Amino acid sequence: MKIGILTGGGDCPGLNAIIEAVVKRANDYEYEVLGFLKGYAGLINGEWKPLSIEDVEGISLTGGTILGTSRVNPFKREDGPQKVMETIKNCRIDAMIIIGGDDTLGAAHKLYGMGLPIVGVPKTIDNDVSETDYSIGFMTAIETISKSIEKLHTTAKSHERVIVVEVMGRYAGWLTLFGGLAGGAHIILVPEKPFKIEEVCEIILRREKEGKKYTIVAVAEGAKPENVEDLITVSKERDEFGHVRLGGIAKLLEREIAERTGKETRSVVLGHVQRGGAPCAFDKILGIKLGFRAVDLVKEGRFGYMICLRGTEIIAVKMESALKQKKLDKEAIQLINFFNKT
Ligand code: F6P
Repeated sequence: MKIGILTGGGDCPGLNAIIEAVVKRANDYEYEVLGFLKGYAGLINGEWKPLSIEDVEGISLTGGTILGTSRVNPFKREDGPQKVMETIKNCRIDAMIIIGGDDTLGAAHKLYGMGLPIVGVPKTIDNDVSETDYSIGFMTAIETISKSIEKLHTTAKSHERVIVVEVMGRYAGWLTLFGGLAGGAHIILVPEKPFKIEEVCEIILRREKEGKKYTIVAVAEGAKPENVEDLITVSKERDEFGHVRLGGIAKLLEREIAERTGKETRSVVLGHVQRGGAPCAFDKILGIKLGFRAVDLVKEGRFGYMICLRGTEIIAVKMESALKQKKLDKEAIQLINFFNKT
């Protein structure tokens, strides 16, 4: 048996833990593993490397992905799906383990529909893949975000300023909610709940009256004011999955807040720091569990499934049910409403 593996979409901490576990579990069954390079680009162009136990020993401690990644979409490349099929045939691959977010898994599901034996594994710091409670990389990103926000308290307090922190998360506010709560942000703004700038300013001024001279606003890159039609972007150019590059909401709020409240205001964009570095313990352990189970699914011949975390269990669900984006639920929105008032 020969298993192919790839990582697609934005990288995140914990991917290497999945790869190490896949190779080690496959070795138990005497399966070979080929690592395809730079996401779907490797499958289209037939670029891969064999992965031995020695190649992966200890990589679970490291961030990023040893296979490289990209936002290449086989369905947007000329003869992409056919080229993928050829590579699979030429390399005599019996099963693919595809690690990705909703875009990568969406393409994996289409390829599965064309007859490829695929098992999916969810990853994204955004935590917006349905069915899994947490996707790999999310908890490490929360550590980074909350530590960063924590650090902003001292400088914001010393200068009696408002600091607006822009957090990743295109369509879902998980990173901003969890990172904001853990970092002690005073106002949390998420894509699921368009906000009124005047209400944000009211909270800041109310805090001022109560003697709270500084405020930290955590805002998701995909959040926007109620009256604004489009998401705030740095570039309208779309990637192969149709996404524009978001960015600029913190700058916009910095200007508006300063003008409307008279408070000195600064903005900070956490950017790709949130995806960087070594995985936290949770992501290392989750990665190992997911990789291990993914190979077992291959052994059981359960293709078209995705491995995920439900409570404390690792389970398999049909890949198609994981493709709907997981947004903040009612309870999370209630928490934000409550939090922004206090
Ligand atoms: O992978 C998801 C994500 O981290 C989003 O939160 C963010 O908008 C995007 O990736 C950034 O992508 P890129 O690395 O292509 O700039």
